[in-house]
Amino acid sequence: MKALIASGGRGTRLRPITHTQNKHLIPIANKPILHYAIEAAANAGIKEIAIVHNADSAEVPTAIGDGSRWNVKITYIPQETPGGLAQVVMLAEKFVNGDEFIFYLGDNMVVGGVKRFIDEFKASKCNCWLTLSKVKDPERFGVPEIVKNRIVSVEEKPKHPKSQFAVAGIYIYDRHIFEACKAIKPSDRGELEISDAHQYLIDKGFSVGFSEITGWWKDTGKPLDLLEANRLILDNITPHVSGEVDAKSTVAGKVIIEEGAKIIDSVVRGPVIIGRNCVIEESYIGPFTAIGNNTVVKKSEIEYSIVLRDCKINSVGIRIEGSILGNDVEVVEAAGRPRVHRFMIGDQSRVEVA
Ligand code: DAU
Repeated sequence: MKALIASGGRGTRLRPITHTQNKHLIPIANKPILHYAIEAAANAGIKEIAIVHNADSAEVPTAIGDGSRWNVKITYIPQETPGGLAQVVMLAEKFVNGDEFIFYLGDNMVVGGVKRFIDEFKASKCNCWLTLSKVKDPERFGVPEIVKNRIVSVEEKPKHPKSQFAVAGIYIYDRHIFEACKAIKPSDRGELEISDAHQYLIDKGFSVGFSEITGWWKDTGKPLDLLEANRLILDNITPHVSGEVDAKSTVAGKVIIEEGAKIIDSVVRGPVIIGRNCVIEESYIGPFTAIGNNTVVKKSEIEYSIVLRDCKINSVGIRIEGSILGNDVEVVEAAGRPRVHRFMIGDQSRVEVA
């Protein structure tokens, strides 16, 4: 069993963060999203992983490396333009070389790993294995129609979904998927849809089985999904304090404070992770917040948020909540009179003021 991970695409729904950073490298609980996919494959005993990435950027290969830190071998496959998930699969045909493989969308996160799905696929002797998760908004996803516990059709982003399930971005295939990907035509949005390849397999009589994901699963395509994934990962952290907490501070609940971080005269209420060399002073850091390395928070309150590295938050009068701050962002009090809001904000940003 090999693994193929998709990390291409443009991440347009996560702008402006993705103007300067590949969406798969955005940290969730201070760890790039892509690490979760690699760990899932490595924990299932997979040794050979291919990552498809945008051909015009070496960002992913540079950040992830050769895989030795996970004890796996990573091969990189460039994709010229994001032509759809079935195209991603076809690019990996040589790498897969007739083996069975798991195809993992690098922006998906699932608790509990993928070994269970691989075991179920192997026991079933199916040609294709889908993982399904019940969602409130199936129209955003590939949606299966299930009759007598069998998948009879799969539609991509249907206006009228035939079930409450989303096909999650974790698929397991044998070599027949290549025949399917080669046979299909681009959809109205110009992509070779993986759902159409699944429909091809069903139509040609190949066996398509499924597992239901009973724990949580997230597609981190939109900002709110990132905050939710961050919440769910933080809920399961093992607390440890390697930084310094002074006598005037209170740290409660599941909290990770990394090396070199200083908590001064502040309240930290977990689940929270505070990265290396951060300074938190006269501030409140509330539940479900991840603060990246080297960030300084003074005289401010922040909760249910993701703050990346090297940010400065100083004397912000109202609690910051439900927010995502990119790398090197400053949110500080406007000095002097009159009292004003003063913005220096890049393209496609969003600010809500009280
Ligand atoms: O998350 C599950 C859903 O993923 C499925 O339910 C859908 O059936 C499937 O089509 C897909 O839908 P999305 O609209 O979420 O796909 P998205 O364009 O966001 O791409 C998914 C991942 O694959 C993301 O990590 C980017 C990467 N990608 C995407 C395309 C189109 C590539 O690496 N290359 C590509 O050409």
